[in-house]
Amino acid sequence: MTDPIAVRRTRTAAAWALTDELVLIAAGEPIPVPGGADQTYPFLAHPEYLWLTGHAHVGAVLAFDPRDGWVDFVPPVTEAERVWEGHTERGGTPIGELPGWLAARRGRPIVVLGSGLAGVRGDALRAEALRSALLHARRPKDALEVAAMREAAAATAAGYARAVEMMRAGVTERAVRNALEAGFAEGGGDGTGYDTIVGFGSDAAVLHFSPTTRVLAPGEPILIDAGASVRRYIADVTRTYRAAGGEDGFFRDLYALVLAVEERAIAGCRAGAEWRDLHLSAARQILEGLVALGFLRGAVDSLFERDVHALFFPHGLGHMVGLGVRDASGYLPGRVRSTRPGLANLRTDLPLQPGYPITVEPGVYFIRALLTDPARRERYADCVAWDRVDARLDWGGVRIEDDVLVTDGEPEVLTRAIPKSLDAALLPR
Ligand code: GLY
Ligand code: MN
Ligand code: MN
Repeated sequence: MTDPIAVRRTRTAAAWALTDELVLIAAGEPIPVPGGADQTYPFLAHPEYLWLTGHAHVGAVLAFDPRDGWVDFVPPVTEAERVWEGHTERGGTPIGELPGWLAARRGRPIVVLGSGLAGVRGDALRAEALRSALLHARRPKDALEVAAMREAAAATAAGYARAVEMMRAGVTERAVRNALEAGFAEGGGDGTGYDTIVGFGSDAAVLHFSPTTRVLAPGEPILIDAGASVRRYIADVTRTYRAAGGEDGFFRDLYALVLAVEERAIAGCRAGAEWRDLHLSAARQILEGLVALGFLRGAVDSLFERDVHALFFPHGLGHMVGLGVRDASGYLPGRVRSTRPGLANLRTDLPLQPGYPITVEPGVYFIRALLTDPARRERYADCVAWDRVDARLDWGGVRIEDDVLVTDGEPEVLTRAIPKSLDAALLPR
């Protein structure tokens, strides 16, 4: 079998097409916690280094010379590391040989990627171009990466199953988070891909809400956005549920709308599709739904032209995901971010290609900070039924998010094992 790391390096070298420049890709150093004595934040090797080496050694540097290839310089294991952390010998070339490697190539331009490298000043302009090419080379995931993402999705499914079992009136947001994260570990996860979001009721309208001791009340929506990580690859999943009790008609209507938007967008995740077009059609579909629900009035074309959707759907349809929550997102070189309210938060703007994993995550929320803003209320005085909106200001919101792998044919939903039908969203107790 071909070594996947060798394939990644070959793909990168071809994308860079260098003749003279030397490239140093630094894994990075631990970051001290301010005032934390000898504590550091958990060390995460720079994704560029990790992807090109398959490991995460602190202080290591991968060097590339287009004339004679790659050398992985790694620090020797210290006695302290053996004693305190149980580290054993690392493969690679001792980092003490890096100065000699550079001296033998004196006078050639140096480009530093990955984390910064103390004492080495690289060419910043060239670094930007090489980083952009490397990012693009990393977008289609290889078999090793997809396997890790599948494992992360399976661990995430185990976490959601645990959380659903214990959600009933009286539990707190933090208790749900704890159950979810315990489930990730039981399902084979190494940890979480990002800080877990759990919001009940009005907290569900805060896009990145940090769970509190708030207690679940009957009939409230519950928004969970969380994913496990496996070997640094992650899942990024959102589900919205409703606690049993009271009249559930509005939840059903809004949930059905968001689910329909999500499913249509997923079906559109095909090679060649422009992500921005999928985002814009989702926005139109949300506008149609909000007109049907009586929150908006007027022609959808005109509402769309005026970016009315950004009041209720103030983020992009999704982003690329993989080696971290927004891995290899961004815009195709040459494309710039629009300042229009309906597009400004689009994190990704490129045509989809086979092997790209991307999140699809439409949402509709009642966000006080947006909906009570006098300037917006005046601008949209004629087309928003403000009395209806005001009656929902504490209601919360609905988001549904899956991770989709673009293929040569049908899109594959990596996170499909996590139930999302309306029936699954309506909790039985
Ligand atoms: N979990 C954050 C996001 O969905 O992008
Ligand atoms: Mn998410
Ligand atoms: Mn996401």
